[in-house]
Amino acid sequence: MAASAPADLLSQIRVNGAVPRHVAIIMDGNGRWAKDRMLPRPLGHRSGMKSVREVVEGAIEVGVEVLSLFAFSQENWQRPATEVSALMSLLEEYIQREADELDSQGVQVVMLGELDRLPAAQRAAVDRVMKQTAKNSKLRLNLFISYGARAEIVRAARTLAAEVAAGRLKPEEIDDALFAEKLFTVGCPDPDLLIRTSGEQRISNFLLWQLAYTEIYISSVLWPDFDRRELYGAILDYQNRDRRFGRVPA
Ligand code: IPE
Ligand code: IPE
Ligand code: MG
Repeated sequence: MAASAPADLLSQIRVNGAVPRHVAIIMDGNGRWAKDRMLPRPLGHRSGMKSVREVVEGAIEVGVEVLSLFAFSQENWQRPATEVSALMSLLEEYIQREADELDSQGVQVVMLGELDRLPAAQRAAVDRVMKQTAKNSKLRLNLFISYGARAEIVRAARTLAAEVAAGRLKPEEIDDALFAEKLFTVGCPDPDLLIRTSGEQRISNFLLWQLAYTEIYISSVLWPDFDRRELYGAILDYQNRDRRFGRVPA
């Protein structure tokens, strides 16, 4: 049987109904993709940029509201300096190359993480694209850079503690909703679907708070080979899940 064309998968998604509002992706496997081809790792990262374009366009077609991509973790700063600097150059290049296109597609780009750690040029590029696309509302693209979920939670706890210490907040007023307001993802619904590529079965310090009831989909495909068809496959799988949230089905 011939593989179904993305258009077929797309119409099946539409027939099924319930599209995930928020899709999060741990984009993994660039290094292995390069190694398989005896190429240097940075070429794997470069090749992964087209997959980003694919999933952004796919998300728009399906009608996803928020797409969250894990691009660079706090732990990734500990990789060899040459790889870190290659990744930083690619970040700047990605913004340079894609900002106008993303803007014209109606994508609001939001970068989340400890952005102070970025070199000045990347920091400026990040600020520029966020400003340029701030008013767009077709798709919100969250790019997690220099991000770690534990640090995000600690940061939220500190903010709340400071408000308590200043007498503006009582400890008993802190609840799930208030805590979530202090996270980078403030204003976004929790992810409905988390995709991790390259077959790894772990969270790697991504969105620990927000993933509480997210459906997880592990794809064996390496990130540079991930395309719209793979995204649609994950969404179709999601549409057949029985989300119970700890309850008994009605
Ligand atoms: C994901 O690919 C991109 C980043 C973490 C920046 P990897 O670089 O982790 O690729 P593998 O896991 O070594 O194959
Ligand atoms: C997770 O991938 C981080 C990103 C995709 C940005 P890693 O490759 O860094 O995670 P581990 O080391 O396999 O857990
Ligand atoms: Mg990896």
